[in-house]
Amino acid sequence: MELPFSFLGLENLPCEPTHTNRAGMEFEHLPHPAPTPADKRDEALKDPGFGKLFTDHMVVIDYDEAKGGWHKATLGPREAISLDPAAAVLHYAQEIFEGMKAYKQGDDTLALFRPEQNARRFNESARRMAMPDLPEELFLESIRQLVAADRDWVPGDPDGSLYLRPFMFASEAFLGVRPAKQYKYILIASPVGPYFKGGAKPVKIWVSRNYTRAAPGGTGAAKTGGNYAASLVPQAEGIENGCDQVVFLDAVEKKWVEELGGMNLFFVFDDGTVITPPLTGTILPGITRNSLIELLREEGLQVREEPYSIDQWRADATTGKLLETMACGTAAVVTPVGTVLGPDGEFTIGSGGTGQMTNKIRERLVGIQKGSVEDTHGWTMKL
Ligand code: PLP
Ligand code: COI
Repeated sequence: MELPFSFLGLENLPCEPTHTNRAGMEFEHLPHPAPTPADKRDEALKDPGFGKLFTDHMVVIDYDEAKGGWHKATLGPREAISLDPAAAVLHYAQEIFEGMKAYKQGDDTLALFRPEQNARRFNESARRMAMPDLPEELFLESIRQLVAADRDWVPGDPDGSLYLRPFMFASEAFLGVRPAKQYKYILIASPVGPYFKGGAKPVKIWVSRNYTRAAPGGTGAAKTGGNYAASLVPQAEGIENGCDQVVFLDAVEKKWVEELGGMNLFFVFDDGTVITPPLTGTILPGITRNSLIELLREEGLQVREEPYSIDQWRADATTGKLLETMACGTAAVVTPVGTVLGPDGEFTIGSGGTGQMTNKIRERLVGIQKGSVEDTHGWTMKL
């Protein structure tokens, strides 16, 4: 029998609804009138895909400058939100988001991977978009609250996890161009399998020549919706040309490899060196990127953050100096790049398959996230 939310979830939650928590703000718990029946949920979890299936609950926190800032937090049923048609986000795209995952570990406990880094980057994005900071502890508490309510939605299979999508947008109804005074922070969750249909199989990458993603001084380092909106046409161009993802070059010289639409890149060479493009402000400072730099160094490789050109990429792949290229991110984990399709035709990395280091690093990273490899860095946070 399905118990109503007020019976089912609350005893598992880390705090009583009427008490303040580590974030110092009460979360009001709104009962769910009709949570998904367990058999339906378990059936859906068998093949969740990516970003198509959603859990029963969501967190909403309101911000109003006139009310002293962040003031009302609720954990309630996931439902449509109503928005004034003049809400600033709909006109000037004042919006940011994060992407992170809760993993089921061997012993059935749940863990997050470096969530404090997401909290920090969220605020860095907020500052670039002239939005208010969300206290990091409040961000983390919202995650704890939602995962506690929806913990049965975390897929248990090796490729599965609960993708968490915190986001914030300007909700003030006002058409003048200035930072809004009212915002909403919302957290939703989506059980996911692999981001790419082929799982960890090598992907084919389209080099965008007609479009760039971010210019110096722009918003490339912020996780804001507009960057992704701008990537859709080149991404569609890539798909029309039989590719899985698009790689962007720098906006000034159209020469330096920056990143994919939703992933950072690493190039592994035959002399034990690795290059990843530097954080110059036009690419997203990936948390997976930062973790891989450490893991690759622990493998004895010399990792350098330095510019790498598209012409060099092709030349090194052709001579065989370049052994592997990997794309990484929360959604894509570590994915091998097999083939690159540029304006001068196609080139293949290594044999076009999954390289040894890509495999090894992916297994180490996933092992830490899933609790089967010792977390010597203290990267996981148990829930
Ligand atoms: N680059 C872009 C544009 C992204 O959207 C993402 C995904 O979040 C990444 C890189 C990888 O970042 P992370 O490893 O923090 O998920
Ligand atoms: C993530 O990896 O979390 C992202 O936000 C990338 C997006 C393409 C799903």
